[in-house]
Amino acid sequence: MKRITKLILSLIMLIFLTSCQTNQSKVYVFIYDMNDPFITALSDHITRIGENYYPMQTHDAKNSQIIQNEEIERVLELNPRLLIINPVDRLGAYPIINKAKSMDIPIIFINREPLEVDLDLYDHAFYVGAKAEQSGILQAEIVSDLFGNQPTNLNKYDLNDDGIIQTLIFKGEQGHQDAELRTEFIISTLTDDNFQVEILKTNVSNWNQDIAYKDALELLPQYENQFELIISNNDAMAIGVIRAMIELSMFVDTNSDGYIDKENEPWYPVIGIDGIDEAVEWIQTGHLYATVLNDASNQAYATIALARVILEGIDPETVDIDIVDEHYVWVDYKKYSLVS
Ligand code: BGC
Repeated sequence: MKRITKLILSLIMLIFLTSCQTNQSKVYVFIYDMNDPFITALSDHITRIGENYYPMQTHDAKNSQIIQNEEIERVLELNPRLLIINPVDRLGAYPIINKAKSMDIPIIFINREPLEVDLDLYDHAFYVGAKAEQSGILQAEIVSDLFGNQPTNLNKYDLNDDGIIQTLIFKGEQGHQDAELRTEFIISTLTDDNFQVEILKTNVSNWNQDIAYKDALELLPQYENQFELIISNNDAMAIGVIRAMIELSMFVDTNSDGYIDKENEPWYPVIGIDGIDEAVEWIQTGHLYATVLNDASNQAYATIALARVILEGIDPETVDIDIVDEHYVWVDYKKYSLVS
């Protein structure tokens, strides 16, 4: 009997130790909201690439910082190797960095950039992402090409021929670095290049397709015959606006060939950012004029490469990443459209 009890106890111990070891060897990924299509793509790439090197476990905070904090607290008790965090609120990074620092656990933030002062608190806190300004600048280049590249002599897309581009902007979440900087840089780049731009309205639709759809259904009729361009901070909102425009007959496939021909069918230019799969389909049908590729697959590659640098002491050059200012790995945006 004694022997059996001893055996059971050793078995329990073994299971406990193995599970501790597995948890410690895992890389944990905390995602702000799996309902966000760009983020789902990024998270899928991270898991796919990460699994080549580490057991991966992903947590979805469902857009709640409280849930995310609880999940991180719980995982920290398991003494994990490394955390990859897409914070719900980028200002929420501060207490997480302090806690991880006290336990000597490295963190890589993705997509939602913590404040520089917060990252500077801990030499094992990093950010992998894309420079928001760059996406605004690339969107501005697309607009400039569309309107003929001559700021003082706009082409036929200046519908009212007043020499000014009238636009509606659909903005992501307030305070998110991408929403703020994309909105700022598309306009400042165009005006620096001597284009005149009139923002009829900047509408915050929180990155979300359904919110943008509902907002657009209300807004577009108010500005009908005034706007000449829709700028969206991301593809999801651009698609929401397109759905509303189809309903409002602002896009009409008059010859039913499955394609909106901007030369002879009702059409307005809509420009997004991200290059998610659904956006590519809307480009192919002529509804979405262009987007800027927010390179989820390269961001995921860089995130895992950085994890390997931190955990295995690999030289960053051998995995083709550049750590800038001790905390940052930047991945470039690219223009994406069917027109050149
Ligand atoms: C993407 C958005 C996404 C947001 C989430 C941005 O970089 O462009 O589509 O909703 O990140 O944080």
